Amino acid sequence: MNTLISNVSQLVTPRGDAPVNGSSMSDISVQERVSIRIEDGVIVDIAERVDKNGIDVLIDAGDAVVMPGLVDPHTHAVFAATREEEFLARLQGKPYDEGGIQSSARAVAAASEKDLVQTATPWLQRMIESGTTTVEIKSGYGLSLEGETKLLLAIRQMRKTLPMRVVPTFLGAHAFPGGVRRDDYISTIITDMIPTVRRRRLAQFCDVFCDKGFFTPSETRTILRAARGAGLDLKLHADELANVGGAELAADLGATSADHLLRVDEHGMRRLREAGVIPVLLPGTAFTLGAEYAPARRMIDLDLPVALATDFNPGTCLIYSMWIIISLAVMRMQMTIEEALTAATLNSAAALELADKIGSIEVGKRADMILLDLDSYRQIPYFFGHNPVRMVLRDGKVIHERSRPHKRGASRPS
Ligand code: NIG
Ligand code: FE
Repeated sequence: MNTLISNVSQLVTPRGDAPVNGSSMSDISVQERVSIRIEDGVIVDIAERVDKNGIDVLIDAGDAVVMPGLVDPHTHAVFAATREEEFLARLQGKPYDEGGIQSSARAVAAASEKDLVQTATPWLQRMIESGTTTVEIKSGYGLSLEGETKLLLAIRQMRKTLPMRVVPTFLGAHAFPGGVRRDDYISTIITDMIPTVRRRRLAQFCDVFCDKGFFTPSETRTILRAARGAGLDLKLHADELANVGGAELAADLGATSADHLLRVDEHGMRRLREAGVIPVLLPGTAFTLGAEYAPARRMIDLDLPVALATDFNPGTCLIYSMWIIISLAVMRMQMTIEEALTAATLNSAAALELADKIGSIEVGKRADMILLDLDSYRQIPYFFGHNPVRMVLRDGKVIHERSRPHKRGASRPS
């Protein structure tokens, strides 16, 4: 099927099929008044005038800003229940601890796979409506072979039924289940869970919550080595609550990404750079927890390819909109809007090993893109909390269209 998108006022995109480092993150391409030709889901031409022969679907962008679909490379989007009481208690001074993950695990234990799909689907639908075309989803609220398998099967089910791209991650090492010895749980992860994930092809990545009060660097190393042996790509929740050397470990293991990094130090950042590990920053979590933000500016100055994600989860960040994350990156982490857009598209695609297929609008890439009711992409961080998305395409097909178009102009918001 051939599609033509015409009347684009601004086509905004990073370029390339690999993560973009440091100062190059500002090199966003802005083309005005172009059309885009898509054939069988792939972008084949971008120009002022493109060949209109053999077009099946014509999309008039009506002066929209067009950019790559947003890629959210870190979420815990499948859970059985929200945790507002814990959230409110924390705001009254109760510290964040593993009790929250345990309560999510109890809720998952009482839910069926079908319940999990039913609860998660509306959240993911909201992500699509907010322009996210690719999402990573972690297990991690199962904490048993049965529970983790149930979560990963629910993720597989949504991968089939939802129109977005879904990348599954196994996070059995999220917390220790109650009443089980640490060593015994780690053995279960290595001898039961990882082989099951491999045999049933349940996940692409394996992640571990490596932090104070959770998995030690040495436990994390043991688990991730086993995961690597089973053919999984690696991610780490690293240095979120304390600096435990999570970044260094991610570098030693050659992980695809190290995520959170609120407490990372200079040495850890340099090791990430040397090893080519992508720092995935989650400013929504720092915002929700009232914690200090990750040192994004220093990372970019050290030439790291910063990526952004929501961390959408019932405990520490219920933000599902990448727009809010981009705004926070610009407003609270001193990133420029150009850097933040690169971080939320091409670099976040690279954090999922997908930078060769998605994350930019260029000839040869899959046509995952969004049409925005904005005058300029530079309005994005300033329009905090708005959803500017008019239309969402995956593989050149419209997967969401806003029913009532937004009006433009300063005096008429809608
Ligand atoms: O990324 N840091 C670890 N895990 C989640 C929170 C999990 C929870 O509290 O449910 C996070 O912040
Ligand atoms: Fe997380």
